[in-house]
Amino acid sequence: MDLVAAVPGVAHHELSEYSDRMELIRTERTYLANPFNPISWTLASVVSTVTVIVLLGSVRPVLALLPLVGLPAAVANGRADVSLENLLDAQAEDNRRLRHLLELATEPPAAKEVRLLGLGREIVERHGALFAQLERARVRLATRNTAGVVAAWMVFGAGYAGAVLWSMHLARTGAISAGSVLLVLSLGAQMNMQLAELGWNVAWLIRTYRAVGRLVWLSDFAAEAKANADPPARRPVPAVLRQGIAFDSVSFAYPGTDRPVLHRVDLSLPQGATVAVVGENGAGKTTLAKLLVRLYEPTSGRISVDGTDLRSFDIEEWRARISAGFQDFARFELVARESIGVGFVPDMASSAKVGAALARGAAEDLVEVLPDGLATQLGREFDGTELSIGQWQKIALGRAMMRESPLVLLLDEPTASLDAPTEHQLFERFAGAARQVADAHGGVTILVSHRFSTVCMADLIVVLDGGAIQELGSHDQLMARGGRYAELYRLQASGYC
Ligand SMILES: Nc1ncnc2c1ncn2[C@@H]1O[C@H](COP(=O)(O)OP(=O)(O)OP(=O)(O)O)[C@@H](O)[C@H]1O
Ligand SMILES: [Mg+2]
Repeated sequence: MDLVAAVPGVAHHELSEYSDRMELIRTERTYLANPFNPISWTLASVVSTVTVIVLLGSVRPVLALLPLVGLPAAVANGRADVSLENLLDAQAEDNRRLRHLLELATEPPAAKEVRLLGLGREIVERHGALFAQLERARVRLATRNTAGVVAAWMVFGAGYAGAVLWSMHLARTGAISAGSVLLVLSLGAQMNMQLAELGWNVAWLIRTYRAVGRLVWLSDFAAEAKANADPPARRPVPAVLRQGIAFDSVSFAYPGTDRPVLHRVDLSLPQGATVAVVGENGAGKTTLAKLLVRLYEPTSGRISVDGTDLRSFDIEEWRARISAGFQDFARFELVARESIGVGFVPDMASSAKVGAALARGAAEDLVEVLPDGLATQLGREFDGTELSIGQWQKIALGRAMMRESPLVLLLDEPTASLDAPTEHQLFERFAGAARQVADAHGGVTILVSHRFSTVCMADLIVVLDGGAIQELGSHDQLMARGGRYAELYRLQASGYC
């Protein structure tokens, strides 16, 4: 948790190589609980094997070689384990798919659709088919491995029988005592156990080594991601925005893809401005917002704040000056005060500050419907109060409003789930919040919305289409232009009964 949370961006979540390794770390984390156990157990196995060898050698030196005939068995065991590990590595992606199907069938988010669409059987069958396919490969490998291991143990069995027969022969000729025959008999049998144990312990050691290796990989990955985000020459984030934020020929493709989602975007957001971003689904509005908060870095071009490249700021210092609410907001199932207050942890304990944030987000009425007010536990999972989607969105809006002096107030579809009176109230408050942001520090408010009744109040409207800027201007300018914005605006306005 610590390592993953330390990575500054989110790009890695989209790389299947990363997800596969995380899946293996998750499933094999028990090996990390005490990595010293397999080391000490392997040492113990070696010590007891050596003791047995010495005892056998004391009967007749050549008997000390008996463990050598057990070596093929130990090697076969070790090999079997490594090949199984390799297979599990190769199956990591399919195992993630299995987990996804399991979650679809058993977790709340998909429960309604699974039932209404009668998908239960379909999901179970898909899960079963995939599981059987993976299991077949594992069984095939295990069968092949077992054949090798059995053959190797037969070699040991033959050697053991030979040693016992030979020592009986020696006893009959009087060269060794009957006690020595018993010693060979019991030590040989013990050797069998010990070699098997040595094999398990070595396999345990190898698995632990691999699990630790993956953890070290994650640790290096987190350190490298942090180092990459660290600016070569650090510049302070300005206290007050004097010019504004500029996108200079910014292009972007999501990691692992080569399809550009933003193409050479040139955009200037003047200080103190309220900017609305509109465009069809998939136009790149959220992507633009994500680049601004540095969840991703542009593939080419640069974003600058008062002329300073965004990459020159310490990423945490920059984020400390951003208030953001995203369309796919998270549900923090904490008590209401905390679920809102995590927007600015230092003020989380203050009911007054949390209340003020709710008011800025036009969500203060929410407290009245919560049985214990701000102390109400949210979410059914912990016997708390479940909220409607719009109420959860109000919590998210309150959270976004916790910081009092951001340089950027970013709201991505903040009203999608809100009722009309709340939406109306919210826009008035937004205007207030935006003005406050502008007056205090010259901050910029960016509003991504499909609702033109909100959008028209912005100082600047950006129309995105297919990842490029199609139109730019104020509501009046764009209406006078009679282009795409005017078309969309009229379409929406005429859509009302
Ligand atoms: N994590 C991702 N990985 C790869 N491609 C993505 C990812 N997120 C979005 N995209 C792609 O980027 C494009 C722009 O997506 P974006 O989320 O910016 O659109 P949007 O304008 O916010 O749309 P909407 O109005 O639906 O919210 C889409 O074509 C989408 O398929
Ligand atoms: Mg979006």
